[in-house]
Amino acid sequence: MSKSKRRVKSKLLKHHILLSSRRLARHLPAVRRYSQRALLYMLHRYGMVYVKPDNGSMGRGVIRVEAHKGYYTYHQGIRPVKCRSFRTLAARLRTITRHRRYLIQKGIHALRHKGRPYDFRVMIQRRPDRIWEPTGIAARLAHPRKAVTNGSQGGTIYDPLDLLRRPAGKRKAKRLLRRMDRMALLTSAKMAKRYPFMNELGLDIAVDSKLKPWILEVNTRPDPCPFTLLPDQSLIKRIVAYGEAYGRSYPLKCGKARSAR
Ligand SMILES: Nc1ncnc2c1ncn2[C@@H]1O[C@H](COP(=O)(O)OP(=O)(O)O)[C@@H](O)[C@H]1O
Ligand SMILES: [Mg+2]
Repeated sequence: MSKSKRRVKSKLLKHHILLSSRRLARHLPAVRRYSQRALLYMLHRYGMVYVKPDNGSMGRGVIRVEAHKGYYTYHQGIRPVKCRSFRTLAARLRTITRHRRYLIQKGIHALRHKGRPYDFRVMIQRRPDRIWEPTGIAARLAHPRKAVTNGSQGGTIYDPLDLLRRPAGKRKAKRLLRRMDRMALLTSAKMAKRYPFMNELGLDIAVDSKLKPWILEVNTRPDPCPFTLLPDQSLIKRIVAYGEAYGRSYPLKCGKARSAR
């Protein structure tokens, strides 16, 4: 594999790279390549899983699947679908997943606001002196009828403290955000060891009801759009300045996400 690579698309590959760090492994939800057997196993083990394309982005093709007493549901887009048996569920998912590689990930019951799940985008970049620095955290609240928080899917962007202080209190919320920064630093170290020319990463981190952070995915070409919608414009300014220093210019055409203000 080329060492000059700056972009890695496979979520499975990135999962395996991070898994070699003991401190990160605790924050990685279990993952399997999609198969009917793996789906049955993971659903019964975790009750809720996410099925997603290995090379996907922007929440496209992401499906939340749940086992209930006597039936199953899968939720893609705005409409949850009920299946009476595992066979029916597996047949439906087969028609969706058979064209490309999919994975199954343990579902995290992310914190909710107004009944809608939210998670965090943690940006980390190389400074002009090449040292990695966490450059911002934005919270993303899912569209009222969707199981994904992506801004491009109609998510709403919040200042992370505004949401996290409700379940955690202000002091604990701040500590949790610093912890996410440290997770991003560990992630950047792991990724940069394998891909020395990598300059930026965007982690998607969900927090469960016990306030444990989980890394849902690591983006190697992160979209800084959420940061344009934060009240504090100093973050996006720094993100753009650091990007320019390593030769990246962001289009910042941020049409779909909403701002909490
Ligand atoms: N394991 C999971 N548990 C809970 N929510 C998840 C999980 N995986 C994905 N999601 C939700 O779906 C969104 C999109 O999934 P993600 O893995 O980030 O793929 P994409 O590359 O399409 O953004 C996440 O931001 C999160 O809201
Ligand atoms: Mg994502």
